[in-house]
Amino acid sequence: MHSCFARMKLFPSPGLGSLSTAGLILLRLSPVLSAPVAEDGPCNKLAGRSYAPPLDVLACYKSFPFNETIRQNVLTVLDRVFDFFSFENYYLDSPPPFEGSTVDIRANLARINSSVYETDYDFHKDIMEFTTSLNDGHTRYVPTCYTTYQSVIPTPITSLYDPTTSTHSIHIAPNSVELMTLMGDAFTSYYSSPEVDFDWKRLAGAKVLSIDNIDPYDYVSKIADTYTGNYLDHGVRVNLVYTSYRIAANTWSQRVGDLAGPIDATREDLPMRLIPIGATEPEDVRIPFYALFIGLPFTDHQNFWDTNCAVIESTNGVDFKDHFPLPDPDPEPSPEPTPSTDPSDPDPSPTPDSQRRPPRRHMKGSVLDPSLHISLDLPEPYLPTIPSSEGSQFVFKNYLLPDNVTGVMYVGSFGGNFDQFQLDVYLAVESLKNMGAKRLLIDTSNNGGGYICLGQYLWAYLSASTAYPGFDSTNRAHPLAEKILSGMIGFGLDYGWSYYAADNWAFVNGTRMNKKFNYLTNPVTDTVNGQPEVTSLRLHETCHNAFVVDRPKTPPFDLSQVAIVGNGACGSTCALFTTLMRETHNTKVAVVGGKPGEPIEYKGMAGNQVLEWWDLDSELKTSGAKADPLAPPDLLVRADFRHNWRIAYSRLEPEKPVAYRSDPATHRFYYTKDTFANPQNLWIEAAKLLFDTDSE
Ligand SMILES: *[C@@H]1O[C@H](CO)[C@@H](O)[C@H](O)[C@H]1NC(C)=O
Ligand SMILES: *[C@@H]1O[C@H](CO)[C@@H](O)[C@H](O)[C@H]1NC(C)=O
Ligand SMILES: *[C@@H]1O[C@H](CO)[C@@H](O)[C@H](O)[C@H]1NC(C)=O
Ligand SMILES: *[C@@H]1O[C@H](CO)[C@@H](O)[C@H](O)[C@H]1NC(C)=O
Repeated sequence: MHSCFARMKLFPSPGLGSLSTAGLILLRLSPVLSAPVAEDGPCNKLAGRSYAPPLDVLACYKSFPFNETIRQNVLTVLDRVFDFFSFENYYLDSPPPFEGSTVDIRANLARINSSVYETDYDFHKDIMEFTTSLNDGHTRYVPTCYTTYQSVIPTPITSLYDPTTSTHSIHIAPNSVELMTLMGDAFTSYYSSPEVDFDWKRLAGAKVLSIDNIDPYDYVSKIADTYTGNYLDHGVRVNLVYTSYRIAANTWSQRVGDLAGPIDATREDLPMRLIPIGATEPEDVRIPFYALFIGLPFTDHQNFWDTNCAVIESTNGVDFKDHFPLPDPDPEPSPEPTPSTDPSDPDPSPTPDSQRRPPRRHMKGSVLDPSLHISLDLPEPYLPTIPSSEGSQFVFKNYLLPDNVTGVMYVGSFGGNFDQFQLDVYLAVESLKNMGAKRLLIDTSNNGGGYICLGQYLWAYLSASTAYPGFDSTNRAHPLAEKILSGMIGFGLDYGWSYYAADNWAFVNGTRMNKKFNYLTNPVTDTVNGQPEVTSLRLHETCHNAFVVDRPKTPPFDLSQVAIVGNGACGSTCALFTTLMRETHNTKVAVVGGKPGEPIEYKGMAGNQVLEWWDLDSELKTSGAKADPLAPPDLLVRADFRHNWRIAYSRLEPEKPVAYRSDPATHRFYYTKDTFANPQNLWIEAAKLLFDTDSE
C-alpha cells in the first residue's frame, strides 16, 4: 500500500492531451457534479455544470487579475527550459516548405515580459499562442487553468472532392447528425431550448461558402495557423481542422476537428454562409458554441482557482534520491553492462526492485492532442464491415480488404501497453497472412506517436532486420545540461533514474555507453541559422534491448508490397517510423486531404524524445543541479511545459534533422462524401492508388 501511494505521488497522471487515456471524459458517463453555491465571482455560476456558454467561461477566465510574480516565474521557467530545446536555433529561419513555422523564441519572451496584461488569462493566452505558433507538438506550454473548457459546435466540417465535377468544397460533415448526437442530451437539448432554438441537424452536408465572412479555405488556414499547432507542415495542420476518424481509448472514434472543438472559450458563435442539402439559395447562419467542462470539478469561484490553477505537489518534479536508496557505488565499472542493468530485462523480482529504484519510464516521442478529451465513437454506419484480424483490441485495428489480398493494419498510436504492442504486431501479421493477405497497407491517420522504441519495433518486425533501426540523435550541451549529467555520474545513477544517464544510449558503432561516461564533455559545435549550436556526441537508441517479442527471420510481406496511408497527422514516433520505411525501403506513402492544390508532407513533426516539465525538473533535482543559478525555479501555477529534448537526424542527409527534411507524400488523394469518415472505403481507394498502378 505504502509503495503504491508513493508511486502515485511520484508519477502524476500525465497532463492534458497526453497519450494516456486516463483523463478521457467519456461522454456516455456524463458526470453529475455537486450543486453550486451562489455568491459573487464570475466562476460561481459555472460550478457544478457540465456545459456553459463560452462567454460565461471567458468571464470566469478573465476574473483573475494579472500577477507580476506569476509572470516572472513562468517566463523564467520558459526561458531556462528553452535552453534545452533542441530546435531553438532552427526556428530562427525554418526552411521551405516550413517557412511559416519561423519564430524568434527569445524575442517573444522579451515581448511577453514587457507587454501590459489586465488579467492572468491574457498573459497565459499570449504564452499559449506563442508556443502553439512553433507548430511543434513536443514543445508547448499548457496551463491547466485555461484549458478547462472545450467549445463545441454541432457542425464539424470537412473538405470534399466531387469526382463528377472535379471540384473541391468545404462542407458540414455529412455524418454530423449521427456524430454530434453522441455528445448526449445535455449538449443537444441546449440547441433545442427556446433561448437558443438552433436547428443544426438540417445543416448536415451543407456546402459552406464562407466562414466568419471569409473564404472557407482561408478560414481553415487561419485556424491551422493560429490554433492547431503541433505540425510544422501547413497541409497537415489543415487536416486537423477537419473532422476525421481515429483510434482513441482503444476504440474507433471520430475527432470533431479544430474548427468544431477548440480547447478555448473566445467565441460565442461562428457565422457561416452555406447552402443546405436540397436548397438552391445560400443562407447566413450563426452557429452557437457550447463549452464542455473538461477540468477538475469545483464548487465556487475561489475553488475554481484552487483546484484548476494553483500549483499542486505533482506539478514540479521530484528528487528520486528522497524516495529510493542510492545504488551501491560501482567498484569496477565495466564497459558492457551486466544483464541486470539492461533496460530490456523483465524484472525478475519486481517487488524488491520497485523499492530500490524509480519505476521504469520508456522514452516518449509524442505530440499533444488535447482533443482526446472528447472521445466520440465513430458512428456505427461508418465502421468497417470486412473481417478483422487478431491483434485488434488495443491501438491496432486490422482487416482484410474485399480483394482478399490486401491486409490493413491501422496503427492508431505507438503508446498503450509497451509489450502488448509488440504482441499485437505479431498477432496481426500472422493472422492477416493466414487470412490470405499478400500485401500490407498501414494506416497512420491521427497517430500522435508514443514510445520511440515501438516505432523502431514495427520497422524491425516488417523488415525482419537486426540492424540498428533508428537514427543518430543528439541533445543540447550547455552548462546546466553538463551539471545534470555530471551530477548523475557523481551519484552513480543509471538509466533507471535519469534520461541523461549515458547507459540509455549506445555509440554509433553500437557499443552501449557506460553509465559513468560523460558524452557532453567533448561537445560538438555546429552553426544553425548563423548561431552556434552545441550538442552531445551522436547517440544511438538501445531499443533492441526492449524488444520482447521475436521478429521473423524474413520479411513477412515483400517490402515492395507494403505501403502507408494517412492524413499526415502522424507525429513524432509515428513520423520516425514512416521516415524509416521511406528511407530504408522506399515505401510509398499516400496522404489524403489537406488543402486542395497545396503540397503535403507525409510526416508531420518528427522530433525525437520529449521531456515534460516534470521529467526535466526531476532530472534537475535528482542530479543536484536544481541549486544552480541557471536552473529554472519550481512553477507557481499548475501547468506543463514540455519540450523536444533530442533531435533525430536523417539517414540520407546526416546533418539534417528528420523534422526539417521535406518529404512530400508520394501519392495524394482527397476525401469524398464516401471516404471522409469511412475507413473501409478510404482503404479500398488507397489500395487502388498504391498497389494497382505501376508508377513509382
Ligand atoms: C501573486 O501570485 C503569487 C504566487 O502565486 C502569490 O503569492 C501572491 O499573493 C499573488 N499576488 C496577488 C496580489 O494576488
Ligand atoms: C523581465 O524584464 C525585467 C526588466 O527588464 C527583468 O528584470 C526580468 O529579469 C525579465 N524577466 C525575465 C523572465 O527575463
Ligand atoms: C474473397 O473471399 C470471399 C470469401 O471466401 C469470397 O466470397 C469473395 O468472392 C472473394 N473476393 C474476391 C475478389 O476474390
Ligand atoms: C565503439 O566506439 C567507442 C567510442 O568511440 C569505443 O570506445 C568502443 O571501443 C567502440 N566499440 C567497438 C566494438 O569498436
